[in-house]
Amino acid sequence: MAKLPIRPRRNRKSSAVRGLMAETSLSAEHLIYPMFVQEGTENTPIDSLPGCKRWSVEGIADECSRLYDWGIRCVDLFAVVPEEKKDAAGSEAWNPDGVVPRAIRQIKKTVPGMCVMTDVALDPFNTYGQDGIVREYPDGSYEILNDETVEALCRQALCHARAGADIISPSDMMDGRIAALREALDAEGFTWVSLLSYTAKYASAFYGPFRGALGSAPKFGDKKTYQMDPANRREALREASLDVAEGADMLMVKPATLYLDVIAEMKEKTTLPIAAYHVSGEYLMVKAAAASGWLDEKACMMEALLSIRRAGADMILTYAAPDVARWLRDEAR
Ligand code: PBG
Repeated sequence: MAKLPIRPRRNRKSSAVRGLMAETSLSAEHLIYPMFVQEGTENTPIDSLPGCKRWSVEGIADECSRLYDWGIRCVDLFAVVPEEKKDAAGSEAWNPDGVVPRAIRQIKKTVPGMCVMTDVALDPFNTYGQDGIVREYPDGSYEILNDETVEALCRQALCHARAGADIISPSDMMDGRIAALREALDAEGFTWVSLLSYTAKYASAFYGPFRGALGSAPKFGDKKTYQMDPANRREALREASLDVAEGADMLMVKPATLYLDVIAEMKEKTTLPIAAYHVSGEYLMVKAAAASGWLDEKACMMEALLSIRRAGADMILTYAAPDVARWLRDEAR
């Protein structure tokens, strides 16, 4: 017999022993499910996001009851806005009878325990498909106005808070919006409404399927003057320290699996809970490869999400949330 007293494989010798050693776990309570809500009574499947739908207000509330039974405790709402309701200012974003405030009220009535998060940004609402207010110049150039956008975001957030939102999640990347949102919410007495900041949101090509789902792709240009350069890691920490100082309750890194280093660093250098957004393109890569028979969907999706947790994310926004909740429930049986 070889003399080898130290054998790491002993700690992997059976499923029970591996369970004892597991450093990271994934459960439904860590998941936030992004959902799309539209006008009308139809629930329409989304081609670019297999398994997801654009829900009616009634439909989303009923689906939330099912999700709640499977263990999903938080959803994030995005509006699908018909072209005729879009304008240059994005004013549908703070319409108290818009689909998002109506969906919040309906979900809260149907499933009071569900935590309702809402996305705050103007891209689904303005004719430009940009997250902020656009100023166009005669020479064809344009600018995304920061401070004017922040005012609009405050109107949108207040509209959601008045409808009963628990968490406001600004995805726009404007400067100073966390402080402004906190002040606007507190001034109306919404001191209990939380802010989950998209702290390090990168100008990623992996948002394509989401923009397809909402019809919100930029009509011209890109988002590089506000979303971060994928080349940068230290800049994420700079954004994090501002969000901490401005009063964010949670910080987010987005996308997730390609930015695990950023998640790990932000977890280490701050004391706030960290969220990661496993975005549409990351979800679709696994779905599409599984549909073609090349990858095992469940194993790959679970591995991707577990890796995001291992990197340090406390919570994960993912389109796979319902599947994962069902897989975990079936395994526990
Ligand atoms: C826009 C927004 C985007 C996503 C969430 N909020 C797209 C973008 O910035 O263009 C992407 C989500 C995904 O790809 O799953 N405010």
